[in-house]
Amino acid sequence: MASEREHWSSRLGFILAAAGSAVGLGNIWRFPYVTGENGGAAFLIIYLSIVFSIGFSVVIAELIIGRATQLNPVGAFKRLAGGVWPVAGYVGIATAFVILSFYCVIAGWTLAYMVKSITGTVLSSDIDQVGATFSTFISDPFEPVIYTAIFAALSVLVVLRGVTHGIERAARYLMPALLVILLVLVGRSVTLEGASAGIAFFLQPDFSKVTWGTLFAALGQAFFSLSLGMGAMITYGSYLRPHDGIFGSALWVTVIDTSVAVLAGLVILPAVFAFGAEPSAGPGLTFITLPSIFAQMPLGEVFAILFFFLLVIAALTSAVSLLEVVVAYFVDEFSANRINTTMIVGAFTFVVAVPSSLSLGVWSGYTIAGKGVLDALDFLTNNITMPVGGLLIALFVGWVIKPEIVRDLVEDSKIPPIVVAAWRIVIRFVAPVAIATILVNGLV
Ligand code: PFF
Repeated sequence: MASEREHWSSRLGFILAAAGSAVGLGNIWRFPYVTGENGGAAFLIIYLSIVFSIGFSVVIAELIIGRATQLNPVGAFKRLAGGVWPVAGYVGIATAFVILSFYCVIAGWTLAYMVKSITGTVLSSDIDQVGATFSTFISDPFEPVIYTAIFAALSVLVVLRGVTHGIERAARYLMPALLVILLVLVGRSVTLEGASAGIAFFLQPDFSKVTWGTLFAALGQAFFSLSLGMGAMITYGSYLRPHDGIFGSALWVTVIDTSVAVLAGLVILPAVFAFGAEPSAGPGLTFITLPSIFAQMPLGEVFAILFFFLLVIAALTSAVSLLEVVVAYFVDEFSANRINTTMIVGAFTFVVAVPSSLSLGVWSGYTIAGKGVLDALDFLTNNITMPVGGLLIALFVGWVIKPEIVRDLVEDSKIPPIVVAAWRIVIRFVAPVAIATILVNGLV
C-alpha cells in the first residue's frame, strides 16, 4: 500500500513552488540574450502574446491532468486514456531528465561565478580577458564538473525532503529573496547613465526583423520558461488537492514568470547599452558581457555577487522541479522510497551531465549532427521534444479527456463559462495549429 500522497500546504505554497519551477535560467540567463538576438521589443511583444494565449492555456491543461489523477505524467496518461498516450508521459520524463542534466552544468557555472565574484577573480573591465577567463573555466575538465556535482547535490537535498518540507519550503524562502534581489538590480541598471538606449531597445518594437525564426524562438522560450511540455506542471498539479482551483493559480504563475523575465531584461539590456556592449552576444551575455560591466560600475563586486546569487536561486527551484518529475514517476509507479530514489536519480543526472560539461572542452571533438553534446541535447529538447510534448498535451486535454474533468475546472475555479469557452478554443484549435505550424516552419 503506497503511503498517502503529499499535498501543498496552501494555495500560496503551490503558487510559489510552481513559479519557482517556471522562474529559472530561462528567465534571467536565456530570455535577455534571446531577446537581444531577435531584435528586442518586437520579440518581446510576440513572446507576451504567445505566453498569455498558448502558454497560459497549456499550464492550465497540465495542471488539470495532474490534479485529476494525483499521479506522475506516465501514471496520469495511463489512468485517463491508456493506449499509446502514456508514451507522451515517458517522453516528458525523459525530456525532464535530459534537461536536468545540462541545466545542472549551466547552473554550476552560476554557482562558480557567485563564488568567484566573492573571491574577486572574474571581474575585469577588459572584455577579452573576461571572455578568456570564461572559456578557460568552461573547458576545464574538472572545475565546472565539480560545481555541477555541488549543484546537483543541492537539488537532491531539497527533493529528498518531500513536497511540503522540501520543495515548498525552499520556494517560500527563495522566491521572495529572488524578487528583492531582482528589484535592487533593476534599480541599479536603469539608473545608469546611458541606460535609456537599452530601455528603448527593449520597449520600442521594430517588426521588420520578425521572421519564422522569431516565432519559433518565442514559442520555444515560452515553453521552456513556463516549464511546459515535459510533465513538470502535471507533476506539481498532482500535489494539488482534488478540488483546489486551478485557473487563478495558473494565472499567477504565468504573470510571475513573465514579470521576472521582463525585469531580468531590464537588468541586463540597459546595462549592456550603458556600457556600449553588444546585446546580441548570445549565451555569453551573462558570463562575459556582464562581468566586464560590473567591473566598471561603482560597487560592481557587490552587484556581481547579488546577480549570480539570483541566478543560483532561480536555477535551484527549477532544477528541483525537473528532478521531482523523475522521482515522482518512480515513487508512484514502483512504490519506490523517495529518499533513495532521489539520491540515485541525482547520481545518474550527474553522470549524464559530465559529457555535456566536457563537450565544451576536452570532448569538443565528439559531435552529434554537427553539435557538441550540450548543444545537441539543448536543441533536441528545446526545439523538438518540448513543443511536441506541449502539442500532445493540448490535443489530449482538448480532444481526448472526459468532459467531466474539464467541468471540474469551471466548478472549482469559479470562473465564468465564457472564459472556459475561450480556453477550450485555444486548447483545441489555436494551440495545436500554432505549435505545429511554428514547429514545422522553424525546423524547415
Ligand atoms: N522554467 C525553467 C527556466 O525557465 O529556467 C526551466 C525548466 C524547469 C523547464 C522545469 C522545464 C521544467 F520542467
